[in-house]
Amino acid sequence: MNYEVVLPAAGSGKRMGAGKNKLFLLLQNKPILIHTLNVFQEDDNCTGIWLAVKPEERDFIQQLLQEHGITKVKGLPNGGEERQHSVHSCIKEMEQVDIVLVHDAARPFITHEIISSLVKGVLDKGAAIAGVRAKDTMKKVHNGVIVETVDRENLWMIQTPQAFRFDLLYEAEDVAEKVGFLGTDEAMLVERLGYPVHIVEASYDNIKMTTQEDIVLGEAILRKRSLEKI
Ligand code: CTP
Ligand code: MG
Repeated sequence: MNYEVVLPAAGSGKRMGAGKNKLFLLLQNKPILIHTLNVFQEDDNCTGIWLAVKPEERDFIQQLLQEHGITKVKGLPNGGEERQHSVHSCIKEMEQVDIVLVHDAARPFITHEIISSLVKGVLDKGAAIAGVRAKDTMKKVHNGVIVETVDRENLWMIQTPQAFRFDLLYEAEDVAEKVGFLGTDEAMLVERLGYPVHIVEASYDNIKMTTQEDIVLGEAILRKRSLEKI
């Protein structure tokens, strides 16, 4: 089943501290952004990519797309102040499709397998997001003191992609904008409308490149993958 994907790429990468958009940092000599784009470029079911970008980075990104043979990008609208605004600017420019995925451009290790489970999830249920089970003991803390130990059985760490029927995400984003609600992911916007959002068990490798340590981890994940191919 076909889908289009929205990749928010208009952040500043403050926590990475590289003095530039972290998506331009290299992993095995290729920008993080290109690693992510390649996955969707090579996925036959992906029929279009929408990239939210900073206006001053648009030319450079278009140059990268050309250099690396990324041909599926249908639009590069201006990102906004917050990630949610960046995603929304893409959704508003898209034509109606059946299924849309939203995926952080900063998660280059997403696999075809997870994408296809999410798409299946949307076909069955309308909304499905990637996540992994919490590994550590989880506690709620207030002012430095434990309030309670939360049952880990029910706790998931949420990632992207987050996949939706297009009309459902469109409505959720529209309502959020009208009432001025800012969520930390797309699922939150859909959840608050009362729609059930299903979880797809993803991979601990699907990290978001956020701080310097993630560069080391990222290189290790790529090394592991190239060894698996031998
Ligand atoms: N993003 C975006 N528009 C924003 C903020 C973030 O498109 N206004 C994108 C980032 O480019 C990234 C994804 O959303 O691909 C996830 O955000 P995050 O990891 O927080 O990236 P940054 O905001 O760039 O990093 P930081 O929060 O450390 O500044
Ligand atoms: Mg951010």
